[in-house]
Amino acid sequence: MNKDAEVFDQIVKARRSIRIYDDQAPFDAEAVTRSLERALLSPNSSNLQLWEFYRVRSKEKKDELAKYCLGQKSASTAKELIVIVTRKDKWKERAEYVLKEAMKDFPQTTGRKEKLIIDYYKKIIPTLYFSDPIDIAGGLKKLFSTVGGAFQPIPREITATDMRIVVHKSTALAAQTFMLSMKAEGFDSCPMEGFDSRRVKQFLSLPRGAEICMIVSVGKAKEEGIYGKRVRVPKEDVIFEI
Ligand SMILES: Cc1cc2nc3c(=O)[nH]c(=O)nc-3n(C[C@H](O)[C@H](O)[C@H](O)COP(=O)(O)O)c2cc1C
Repeated sequence: MNKDAEVFDQIVKARRSIRIYDDQAPFDAEAVTRSLERALLSPNSSNLQLWEFYRVRSKEKKDELAKYCLGQKSASTAKELIVIVTRKDKWKERAEYVLKEAMKDFPQTTGRKEKLIIDYYKKIIPTLYFSDPIDIAGGLKKLFSTVGGAFQPIPREITATDMRIVVHKSTALAAQTFMLSMKAEGFDSCPMEGFDSRRVKQFLSLPRGAEICMIVSVGKAKEEGIYGKRVRVPKEDVIFEI
């Protein structure tokens, strides 16, 4: 194992979900800033970056949000709470941004590679992300993919619900980058899905199209903040070679 892998191994093994944080331990808010900036470098579907991160730091706001996290101690004792939000509804503006940035590398728009990029963001992305209130478009896309897929490999996850999953997948990867980075900075975290999403959305004044992916608490762990030894199913049950 090389040096980088050794350090990474230590960080991954040291990260645990923390349910009680030490109120007295020093905390570096800049570590959160750096970790969020690293999270933004996470891989994500079509590079649309359909995520947002809301830092909740004041005692008053944290206390309110902790209530919406069903009173979990991981939330009520945290130094900060980071609400990680999906923004599938922003697909159009993000696609335009990413395409505009990509095109800066290609002053002419006539080459094959340029055409592929333009087609991707102007045709394929709208086809995937466009949806109507009852997802008639999704039903039609599903029908086309089922028929077309009888003859060749074809993407099948294309309904509005499928695309929600796509966006949550990418956003969860950013959450993981954030948590590992916090560990590397010497701090602890806990991802939480135990919350009242409607109240959290109201709390942040988020629009209908936004969804809460998870809320991550951060701080310095108290020894008793780790609930039990780490349990994982045997690797033979989940890692396969075919
Ligand atoms: C998406 C997600 C949601 C979770 N929600 C909660 C939660 O609401 N409360 C909690 O105490 N732990 C929560 N956890 C933490 C898991 O219980 C924890 O990761 C698991 O037990 C493994 O322990 P470890 O993280 O210490 O390795 C969540 C983890 C994930 C990935």
